[in-house]
Amino acid sequence: MDSALWDELRRIAETRPKITELFAKDEARAEDFSVSCGEMLFDFSKTQVTRSTLDFLLSMSKNAGVAAKRDAMFSGARINETEDRAVLHTLLRAPQAPEGLEVEHAEVARILANMAAFANNVRDGSYTGQGGAITDVINIGIGGSDLGPAMAALALAPYHDGPRLHFVSNVDGADVADTLDGLNPETTLVIVASKTFTTIETMTNARSAFEWMAAKVSDPGSQFAAVSTAEDKTAAFGIDPARVFGFEDWVGGRYSMWGPIGLALMIGIGPDDFDAFLAGGAAMDAHFQSAPMAENMPVLLALIGIWHNQGCGHATRAVLPYDNRLARLPAYLQQLEMESNGKTVAMDGAALPVHSGPVVWGEPGTNGQHAFYQLIHQGTRVIPCEFLVAAKGHEDNLSHHHELLVANCLAQSEALMVGRSFEEAQALMAAKGLEGAERDRQARHRVFPGDRPSTTLLYPKLTPEVLGMIIALYEHRVFVEGVMLGINSYDQWGVELGKELANALTPILKGEESDAGKDGSTRMLLSRIKG
Ligand code: F6P
Repeated sequence: MDSALWDELRRIAETRPKITELFAKDEARAEDFSVSCGEMLFDFSKTQVTRSTLDFLLSMSKNAGVAAKRDAMFSGARINETEDRAVLHTLLRAPQAPEGLEVEHAEVARILANMAAFANNVRDGSYTGQGGAITDVINIGIGGSDLGPAMAALALAPYHDGPRLHFVSNVDGADVADTLDGLNPETTLVIVASKTFTTIETMTNARSAFEWMAAKVSDPGSQFAAVSTAEDKTAAFGIDPARVFGFEDWVGGRYSMWGPIGLALMIGIGPDDFDAFLAGGAAMDAHFQSAPMAENMPVLLALIGIWHNQGCGHATRAVLPYDNRLARLPAYLQQLEMESNGKTVAMDGAALPVHSGPVVWGEPGTNGQHAFYQLIHQGTRVIPCEFLVAAKGHEDNLSHHHELLVANCLAQSEALMVGRSFEEAQALMAAKGLEGAERDRQARHRVFPGDRPSTTLLYPKLTPEVLGMIIALYEHRVFVEGVMLGINSYDQWGVELGKELANALTPILKGEESDAGKDGSTRMLLSRIKG
């Protein structure tokens, strides 16, 4: 993209109007600055974006070639240039084969059918452990091989009617030990989920789980399944190819929950609800491919992200689901967004002309309100907030809870925008009987600067289909932001150095090698740990 456009964007941001003024001038602002996809509504009216700013952002996306690059991705072009791979996670949920991808699509359908057959066998007790029907399924994986299914298993708890699901990811032995504690190895199925089947955390946890199983089960391998692109390595681990579900290298780890990496989720909720999840993702794909850019939800979500981060200079964004079952969504989005767009260089190797993607963080509301919202409202840094909320909850008998939840969500975006002036705070203190300097001193603590931007994603209810739409929405947002920044959103070289150094440190910790050549801090820490 023409780098002069970034300077212009920053110039526009310097003179941005107040959100309340925009609402005062334009009665139709809410309608004009919101967009729908099916029954999902994305409201970005409580931001400082004006019509001309939006037009400028849209012209930036055009200049960056977003539409052509989107089409290239869906058609299977090798847009992950640093790994020379296509980026085709959308194929995992495509109802029909895109032109030229018929063979790949048929293979996806075949593997999905195998997953469904296995999931049904586990669910109906046709597949058993040594002690009978499977009661517990442990997914051992990390990053994209853990966060997606773990996030979705919680999100879709009302649809869960299969064996209990557990997720082990951390190499900290506490994770696997606490998970195995109390489980019966004779009725447990372990799924080793690793795209590469080399990830040290996953392989270490898988071996520990195998030993735990072997203590009670005569053929532990028969209670293991694997999900991977490396079928030679799953065979070497001793997992029967009949229970190995493969996928291709054109599915990135953090984009992989739609295929075999979703196996544990499918066992938990059943193939039909898993299909509904895929259908939701496909509906968002169709919208992304066909809606005009000015009405395109992923494009607009991305443009708002670019505006806040690269335009206004807000370095972080908070993801605040008012939906307790989306508690793991912020962690999921941290990987999706930060592993994808946390890069220093553009595709051609040149330094980025602006900052890369933002820090993404968050917690469900209303819990966050009683923890970190103080800083969001009155701290010196502005943090754009992304609220997510369902019109209806699942708990019909607890609808008063849902009313309170929604009221709090809407109140937060209103409070962030409207704030409270010094004069209003003064009046409040005067009403409490304070006067003069003490009234003013107390009032100053009760001022809310306001004009703090937020967006709200409103959906009817957190169903499998809606979850699919939400996840695909964010995937495409990352893509659009990546294209505008010139980033390859599909590699992750930044995780490699730490892995290499950890491998080099392990023999030093074991006393097999000396610490010569290590820095003073690392040597001191090693020496204290070794005692
Ligand atoms: O270390 C980062 C990473 O490669 C992620 O991109 C990936 O999701 C995760 O590790 C797990 O990788 P794998 O599925 O190959 O075990």
